[in-house]
Amino acid sequence: MSSHSVTLPQLLAPDVAARVAAALADAPFSDGRATAHGGARDAKRNQQLEPAHPLAREHGATLVAALNRSERFMSLALPHTILPFTFAQYEVGMAYGEHLDLPIVGTPNGPLRTDLSLTIFLSPPDAYDGGELVIPGDDGPRTIKGGPGDAFLYPSDTLHRVAPVTRGQRLVAITWIQSLVPDAEQRAILAGIGDSVIAMHTAGAPDADVTRLRQVQHKLLRRWARA
Ligand code: NI
Repeated sequence: MSSHSVTLPQLLAPDVAARVAAALADAPFSDGRATAHGGARDAKRNQQLEPAHPLAREHGATLVAALNRSERFMSLALPHTILPFTFAQYEVGMAYGEHLDLPIVGTPNGPLRTDLSLTIFLSPPDAYDGGELVIPGDDGPRTIKGGPGDAFLYPSDTLHRVAPVTRGQRLVAITWIQSLVPDAEQRAILAGIGDSVIAMHTAGAPDADVTRLRQVQHKLLRRWARA
């Protein structure tokens, strides 16, 4: 499993997540297979509210605003473009078998490279059984089931699946991000330097030292960024 996957606890405030979930309770979800390609189409059994739907746009904007406010997300993802959110609902018996997300997706503004995939959990974990996001790995699978508003950010080339829901209903919001820095290792290096800059600043290190480290960070970002 990639070490570049990360949980972002309460990226969205739990009460906001609950409000979004409630607002979408009667939304017109449709068969998710319509937007799956190749092998993913056979593996995909869920219902989706497409990004273009007014309800998805309204509540997706709330989620994008939360992303933009999150220093942790911005530091880890270095987003160039964040795709509009899709809402995915899994009823009992629904699942998404092991698959890879598409490397390039079409958008009204042209093709977008998916560097990062993001899931925001909206349902409370006790509202459903099963439905974990599962990432296979050499040391066994990693299973992720977040509380309302928790997010999981992972490189889009990660093999993953959603376990079958056996009780209740699972609602998540998903999106894909084209990063300014396509390489996961380079993003991790930049985020590590960013953490150190903040830690030095907090510890009261001399400004000149903090600035020197920030200069290194900026040099690497200029070198690695693809605008
Ligand atoms: Ni996927």
